[in-house]
Amino acid sequence: MNTEMEIKKAANILANAKRSVASCGAGISAESGIATFRDPGGVWEKLNPAEVGTSDGLLNTLTRDPGKLLPFFIELLEAFEKAEPNPAHLALGELERMGILQTVITQNIDNLHIEAGNTDVIEVHGNGFRIRCLSCRNTERMQRKQLIRDTLKKVKQMQDFSLDAVASLLPPCRLCLSPTRPDVVMFGEAVKDIPQAFDAARRCDVLLAIGTSGTVYPAAHLPFHAKESGAKVIVVNPNENAFSAVSDVYIPMKAGEAMGEIISTIRKLMH
Ligand code: APR
Ligand code: ZN
Repeated sequence: MNTEMEIKKAANILANAKRSVASCGAGISAESGIATFRDPGGVWEKLNPAEVGTSDGLLNTLTRDPGKLLPFFIELLEAFEKAEPNPAHLALGELERMGILQTVITQNIDNLHIEAGNTDVIEVHGNGFRIRCLSCRNTERMQRKQLIRDTLKKVKQMQDFSLDAVASLLPPCRLCLSPTRPDVVMFGEAVKDIPQAFDAARRCDVLLAIGTSGTVYPAAHLPFHAKESGAKVIVVNPNENAFSAVSDVYIPMKAGEAMGEIISTIRKLMH
């Protein structure tokens, strides 16, 4: 398969799309310096999902051995602080402004699609920079870098990493002053806005699947759902095509590089 041809094919399909949708996984943020989960060196190689991926597991780990997570927690926060939207995020923002892309459905919690300018973003695993009250469930969107800087400062001054100390890392609820948590979906918790995500996949004429291993459901269903409804499916992933049964185009490249080439090809087609 000739990648050059696949880029051209993808650009043509998108340039003629009426309602395209992007469905993104951790791979789209890899070039922003945020580790993926299942690649070599990824998050699940360093941390055990059973110990940190569920709220019970995390509470248990923090109670039993609080200091254990500290180095990873700091490493993760520092990566999130440095991260900027990369050419792949920016290309999706431009595709929305061109009237080609309607919706971004993302499994990522890093806020980078919103910072890249997309306005219709379905965050099925939540957003790490929106905090939710543990009592009244009020949510509040925070400024990503400021929240990380404040949290890192507190973490580095923390003597003990107990549950109470961790609970006080985030600002209290503005309405009832109760403790808050990041408004993200842990394993075993209900994913967010799935009906809207499936509706977008059903109504689109092109679905762009970028940087996902297609291992976590229900998000992994989306490209199949789009295909069943008659959409064309374009996959961008340097290592694997989890959707080979339904993809019309497969671009084995990094998201930032591929989307950069696709958007410049579309600009030429649109002139
Ligand atoms: N560009 C595009 N894709 C990339 C890049 C890159 N630069 N680097 C890696 N990838 C691909 C990998 O080949 C892999 O297929 O991104 C994918 C990342 O897969 P995962 O780490 O499994 O991430 P994701 O599919 O988003 O996982 C889904 O699993 O653990 C949960 O909640 C977590 O949202 C996450 C969900
Ligand atoms: Zn509250």
